[in-house]
Amino acid sequence: MKFLSAIVTLLAAVTVQANTAKLVLYSSYDGERLAPILQPFTQATGIQVEVVFASSTDLLKQLETEGLNSRADLYLDKDIVYMGEANRKGFLQSFTSNGVTQKVPSHLISDDKNWFLLFYRARTVMYNTQKVNPEDLKTYADLGDPKWKGQLCLRTSKNSYNEAMAAYFIKHFGEIQTTALLESWVKNLAVEPLKGDRDVIAAIANGTCAIGVANTYYLAPIVRDDVTYPVGVRFLEQDKVGAHINGVGIGITKSSKNTAAANAFLEFMVSKPVQEAVAGGFSQYPASKEADMAPILKEFGGFAEDMTNVNAVSDLVPAGIELMKKAGYK
Ligand SMILES: [Fe+2]
Repeated sequence: MKFLSAIVTLLAAVTVQANTAKLVLYSSYDGERLAPILQPFTQATGIQVEVVFASSTDLLKQLETEGLNSRADLYLDKDIVYMGEANRKGFLQSFTSNGVTQKVPSHLISDDKNWFLLFYRARTVMYNTQKVNPEDLKTYADLGDPKWKGQLCLRTSKNSYNEAMAAYFIKHFGEIQTTALLESWVKNLAVEPLKGDRDVIAAIANGTCAIGVANTYYLAPIVRDDVTYPVGVRFLEQDKVGAHINGVGIGITKSSKNTAAANAFLEFMVSKPVQEAVAGGFSQYPASKEADMAPILKEFGGFAEDMTNVNAVSDLVPAGIELMKKAGYK
């Protein structure tokens, strides 16, 4: 990849004195997907990175079982639900890298500095461009307006993306309004909740429903490759709280003894070339404000995002799960 030489140059300047060190990365993404990042890091620093790849829930179980004897130095996961759970269970320790705090906005860094987002997306409304005037959709509550009866598609509530979104609702609207909002959504469903975000987007495109909720990165590659695809994205809550965001997080595990190398890895991950290449590859927004976003995300337009600390949103996930159940959201 063409960004490799830039990364090597960059890291030559920040190489740590840990040439013999090896880092073990517990990750919900496989090593192949991460290789374009890990290889240049190893080339520049001499630090090997072993990836232990498993599902988020399996990684959390493994961290729990292993405790302080875990081989893990770093934990990388796709979602604030799992990063927050790892933190609440005491599996993480604070990072010390100033590079991270300088480059990543503070709301994307857990207030205890135990984890932060590397890149992120909005979870917001998508709509059929032939049927819907996006001006009619300004808030998450708007999706529950009776005028959308039989026209809303949702993914099942048994999914971390929706758990995090329910937590965001509680943070901003409180439990009573959140329950009412979720109940109004359930009343508007066109079909039973679907399995994945891709199914929601496909159902909007084929007319099964007019509107739905999905992560921006699922739509980005589709409309980049097919400009006629009849689905648009609309960022909600732009007047007040900002759209709900969620992202890929990373933190140093409490068991790590290679904290110098682990901090160097975090610093590397927030460097401009890595942020641009990786966020681009995942179609997500780079956490570092000095990094440029992918052209298709620029086409989606700028938006106001929720500025609540990611850890504070994640702490409300258990309550969010309860309210989705209470509202009859399957
Ligand atoms: Fe996803």
